[in-house]
This record gives sequence, structure tokens and C-alpha cells, in this order.
Amino acid sequence: MGFKRIAIAGASSVGTQGGWSWGTGTAILHALVDLKRQDPSIWDTIVVVSRLESVQRSSTEFALLAPFGVEVRGADYQSVESLQKAIQGTEIVLSCIAGPAAIPTLASNLLRASVATGTVRRFLPSEYSFDLEAPRNAPLLGDYHKRKVEHRRDVEKSGLEWTYVVTGSYLRPPSYIATLTTPTPTRPVLIRLDLSTPPPSTLVSGITVPDVALYVARLVTDPDESWSRNKCVRFLADEWSQTGEVELVREVSGKPVEVDWVEEKNASYFALQAAKGLYWVPKSEWDSSRYPDVKPRRLRDVVEEEWKRVQSA
Ligand SMILES: NC(=O)c1ccc[n+]([C@@H]2O[C@H](COP(=O)([O-])OP(=O)(O)OC[C@H]3O[C@@H](n4cnc5c(N)ncnc54)[C@H](OP(=O)(O)O)[C@@H]3O)[C@@H](O)[C@H]2O)c1
Repeated sequence: MGFKRIAIAGASSVGTQGGWSWGTGTAILHALVDLKRQDPSIWDTIVVVSRLESVQRSSTEFALLAPFGVEVRGADYQSVESLQKAIQGTEIVLSCIAGPAAIPTLASNLLRASVATGTVRRFLPSEYSFDLEAPRNAPLLGDYHKRKVEHRRDVEKSGLEWTYVVTGSYLRPPSYIATLTTPTPTRPVLIRLDLSTPPPSTLVSGITVPDVALYVARLVTDPDESWSRNKCVRFLADEWSQTGEVELVREVSGKPVEVDWVEEKNASYFALQAAKGLYWVPKSEWDSSRYPDVKPRRLRDVVEEEWKRVQSA
């Protein structure tokens, strides 16, 4: 029948620049509110769980969502009781908290609180990553992703239903996607790419945050809960290589392109993981066709939007 009482932890990032600056939880919250605009009976309440210091900061934005049935509850992530009080009565918990401090320790407190409610049936850990346990990836994981695997074991032992959402790399600049610089009469388009080695032909799969959010909102409200029960679902929109990305920027801008490669010692943790091929998810494994009316943006759309933005900046 679809979950009617939903908790989202970590949905307080505010502001948007064409959708890029929202975090995962905020984007899911807005996607769920949009579904409710179309169908008022699609869910009853959303509880946004937020650290106490964040509640005040985002109060204006949250007030706008109150008429839809969105309620913000502050909680102390060090306290299972405090978290339990915040999510009591909900049926599904979407953990979207981020960062090394949050996973797995604080995320596990949220999991324990979910079990303690007696009302929560399903837990979605804060994954939104590559296929953590694909045999091809397991030996290559860095510490952050090893902690996500550790958290999976806790989730599976909790007795709750679970769903893991695999997204590959987020398609948003600036990240693994090139940072574009406006050309001048004397300078071509400059793109900054994180990492020149290993081979820039390594494939990366990914999706934009607003599109992940649309898929997750559909999953949560899907009348067939069993489809995603105890399953790893893979919502992706495109695959590309850095070489292909350079070509695409050249094509979209119609300008000469100069690449400012970042050396390995200066590359981000995520770029290093992507360069090993970890963010690639074979197309045959994507679940995006479950919701064929969601038309996610592809790399070309993102490059075109970013190109327009740098030109008008
Ligand atoms: N695939 C990719 O390329 C990619 C890229 C980025 C992120 N991700 C993943 O997506 C998930 C969400 O990340 P995000 O970047 O979207 O999130 P984010 O916007 O950086 O943060 C999400 C929320 O986490 C909460 N939070 C932050 N630090 C916390 C802490 N120490 N304790 C408790 N809560 C804390 C905050 O909520 P409150 O202030 O309201 O409490 C914050 O709004 C993570 O699992 C991350 O690894 C994936």
C-alpha cells in the first residue's frame, strides 16, 4: 500500500542553485511533497529528524512545508531515546545523514531507535553510493565505504525490512563532474577534472540528486512494498568516462577545451574511488525502468545546464 508515515533524517540543507546544492534528504523531502501536491492521499505525515542546532537554522524553509504535513523534530543523535521520541509513530525511516562521524555510529543509534519504536517497518540506510558489495568492488573499498558495509550488517541484524539504494556518482558540478570556466576571447573553456590517472577512460555511472530523490519518493509510495523489500535497488541515469566528458564539453560549448588535470596526491577520496572503477554499475543491473515516467537527466543535460550557467555568470 505504500508507506504513509515517513521519517527522513538529515534533510535540513537549504537553498538551491538549479537543484545542485540540496543534499539527498532535502531533495527526497521535496520530491515527496511534490507527489503530495498531485495526490493528497499519497502519504499522511513526514517527520524530518534534525540535529537540535539545525532545526532553528532551517525553520523558515520547514514552515513552508508544514501545511503539507511535514513536521520537524529535533533530536540528539548520541541518544537513542531522543531519536526514538522523534520518529515514534512512523513506518519507514530514510537515513540521509552524511559524514565520517555519522556512519556507522550515529546511524546505528538511529537504527536502534527505529527498532525501539515498534512502528517502523523499513529502514533505508544512508547509502546513495556504488555497489558496495559487488565482488568486483569489495577489495577496493576505502574506509568511508567500509563503514557503510559495516552498517549494512547492523541493518540486516535489526529485524527491520531494509532497502539499499545504489546511485553511482552524483551527477552535479563541482564534483567528479568537471568544473567549467567561462571562456574569454583569449582563453578556451577550461575544465577541471579530478584525477588524470588511472586511465581517464574508466567508466563511471551516476545520476543527479533531484532524480535520485524522485526515484526514492516513488519507491517509498509504491503500492507494492514488496518490490523493494530486503533488496539493493539501483537507480542510475547515465554512464561516462572522463575522456567522453571532455568531448561532450567540446561539443556542447562549440569551443576549444583545455583540461586542468588534478594530480593524484591532490585528488579527492571520491575521485580516487571513482578512478578505480568503483562507481560503475553495469546497465543490465539498473532498476530505473521500474518507474518509466521518471525521465532522469543525463550527463549531456547537466553539461548543457552548467554551460549556460557559466556563460550567464
Ligand atoms: N554518490 C555520490 O556521489 C554521493 C555524493 C554525496 C553524498 N553521497 C551520500 O549521500 C548520503 C547523504 O549525503 P549528502 O551529501 O546528501 O548529505 P548532506 O547534505 O551533506 O548532509 C545530510 C545531513 O546529515 C546530517 N548530518 C551531518 N553531519 C551529521 C552528524 N555528524 N550527525 C548527524 N547528522 C549529521 C545533517 O542534517 P541535520 O543538520 O538536519 O541534522 C545534514 O543536513 C551520504 O551517505 C553520502 O555518503 C553520495
